Amino acid sequence: MRVGVLTGGGDCPGLNAVIRSVVRKGVQDHSIDFIGFKDGWRGPLEGLTVPLDVPAVRGILPRGGTVLGSSRTNPLSVEGGTERVRANLERLGIDALIAIGGEDTLGVAAELYRRGVRVVGVPKTIDNDVDGTDYTFGFDTAVNIDTEAIDRLHTTAESHMRTLVVEVMGRHTGWIALHSGIAGGANAILIPELPFDIEEVCGWVESRFRIKYAPIVVVAEGATPKGGRPVVKDESLDAFGHIRLSGIGDWLAAEIEHRTRKEARTVVLGHIQRGGTPSAYDRWLATRFGLHAVGAVVDGDFGKMVAVHGRRIERVPLADVAGKLKTVDPEVYREVDVFFG
Ligand code: F6P
Repeated sequence: MRVGVLTGGGDCPGLNAVIRSVVRKGVQDHSIDFIGFKDGWRGPLEGLTVPLDVPAVRGILPRGGTVLGSSRTNPLSVEGGTERVRANLERLGIDALIAIGGEDTLGVAAELYRRGVRVVGVPKTIDNDVDGTDYTFGFDTAVNIDTEAIDRLHTTAESHMRTLVVEVMGRHTGWIALHSGIAGGANAILIPELPFDIEEVCGWVESRFRIKYAPIVVVAEGATPKGGRPVVKDESLDAFGHIRLSGIGDWLAAEIEHRTRKEARTVVLGHIQRGGTPSAYDRWLATRFGLHAVGAVVDGDFGKMVAVHGRRIERVPLADVAGKLKTVDPEVYREVDVFFG
């Protein structure tokens, strides 16, 4: 049996751990012949492959990124994309695909399965927002990185009695902000699921200053104030000639400074959250996902995504999770708001 493996979407720590686990299990227990596809769905679309055998996965367990490369290419938005993918799989003698990715990559996997491609999905994202699984690998590493950053920012904020606004990743959901904000003892946590009231945030900031501590505000990049997202421009252009919009963190720090009349600074943690070595938990989860993905392929159980539910790894239909996001439960957010201010 010949199986193709690809990693799509934004990278995250733990991708290499899955690739290693898939190859080790598949070769050792089932004599599967693997082919790596380069750069996510671009690989099967354009027929770009890399050798993938046991020597190729040696030493990659602790390495961040992905040895296969990644992209956000979507064959469904390319004319004739599905036919090209199918033709390349046939030409290469591929019996099945293991697609490791977030909501976009898995959405493509679900649709290609509907169109006859034999595929098994493995969920990944630092954002932890893939529906149908309790956790995705990459999330724990990102939360640890952010918690360490927040710990460090407390001491510099205290020395200067300033507000520090920490912008973390999370376009659609606030899992990273919530978990790292609580672990780091933030005084306000702002998430995309619940638009915030800037006056209330400034109230929390003021009350922190009153007890002679400096406030730390953790904001997810997709959070918005009530009344809509402010458009904050800077003058630089991105690689495609579009004007870059600076993030919510900059807007928030300017607003807090203006309203409280006390200095505020922003730290945007950005891609540092996606780089580097995965945490022990993420290596464990990624390894188990890899083993179970091979199990699904061997069983011929296609159109499924491996998922963790409590301590068990299970299979859920890709069609049930595609296009859905797992958002933060407002009840859980309210549980912790006792720490704000
Ligand atoms: O989906 C993962 C993620 O890291 C988001 O948190 C973030 O908004 C986005 O990817 C950034 O994407 P890119 O690396 O393409 O700028």
